[in-house]
Amino acid sequence: MQLIDGKAVSEQIKKEIAQEVSLMKAAGKKVPHLAAVLVGHDGGSETYVANKIKACQVCGFESSLLRFEETVSEETLLAAIDKLNKDQAVDGYIVQLPLPKHIDEHKIIEAIDYRKDVDGFHPINVGRSFIGLPAFLSATPAGILELIKRYDIPTAGKHVVVIGRSNIVGKPLAALLMRKDYPGNATVTVVHSYSSDITEQCRKADIIVCALGRPGFLKADMVKEGAVVIDVGTTRLPSDKTKSGFKLFGDVDFEAVAPKCSFITPVPGGVGPMTIVSLMKNTLLAGSNAIYR
Ligand code: GUN
Repeated sequence: MQLIDGKAVSEQIKKEIAQEVSLMKAAGKKVPHLAAVLVGHDGGSETYVANKIKACQVCGFESSLLRFEETVSEETLLAAIDKLNKDQAVDGYIVQLPLPKHIDEHKIIEAIDYRKDVDGFHPINVGRSFIGLPAFLSATPAGILELIKRYDIPTAGKHVVVIGRSNIVGKPLAALLMRKDYPGNATVTVVHSYSSDITEQCRKADIIVCALGRPGFLKADMVKEGAVVIDVGTTRLPSDKTKSGFKLFGDVDFEAVAPKCSFITPVPGGVGPMTIVSLMKNTLLAGSNAIYR
C-alpha cells in the first residue's frame, strides 16, 4: 500500500508556482490577484478561505477577502460580483459555498464573469471542459487528476466508481475521467444516494473516488484487493484531541480499507491540499490570460 501524499505534492506545486510568479515580477508583470467572497461565519468555510488566502501568500499572489453577513441580500451580493467582474486588478475570484438558503446559488455562479471563474463553476467552464475545450477546471477534480498523474496511476480501460454526483466533484470528475487523454480513458460509473448496488459496483472497481460526505462510509468489504481509493470527504466534527476543537473525517474507513489498497489518500493531507493548489493554478492561468484572451 502506498499513501498518496497530497500535502507533499501540493507543497511542491506551490513552490513551482512561486518560482513562476517571481519570474513574472522580475519581468515587471503584474502578479496574479485572487479575491474570495465569504458570506456568514460557517467554521468550515472560514477555514477553507483562510487556507486559500495563506496559499496565495506562499505563491506570491495578491489576495483580497470580501466578507458579508449571513443576512446579506442577493442584490447586494450580485452588486459585489458585478464590481469584481469589472475590477481590472482582480484576475480571478471565488464565492465560497454553501451560501445561505435565501440566496440562489446558481444565479450567483452565473453572474461571475467566466473568465474570472477560477473555481470552474460557471456553466461556460463546466460545458467547455465537458467537451474538451480549454476552460477553468473545477478545483477538486483537477487536484485528483494531478495526484493520479504524479503517482503514475494507470486509468485507461480501468473501472472507476465515483460515489457522489455533486456539481463540484462527482459530475465533473466523471466527465474528466472519460476524456480521451491521461488521466482518462476510463470506464466510469457514478453511484449516488438512489443507487441500489453501491457495494457491488465498488467491489468491481479498480479506482474508487468517495465524494459523498459520510464519514467512514467506504468499508473494507466494499473494496477489491489492489484498488486505488481516493477520499474526498471532509466532514468537520467536534474533537477534544485537536487545538482547533475540530477534526476532519474522510468518507473512507481508512484503517480497515488501507491494507487492501495499492494507493490511498489520507484525510487530512490527501485531496484537500490539492484542491487549494488547483485554485492557485487556475489563478495563475487567469493572471496570464492563458485560457481566455
Ligand atoms: N465549498 C466547498 N468546496 C468549495 C470550493 O472548491 N469552492 C468554493 N467556492 N466553495 C466550496
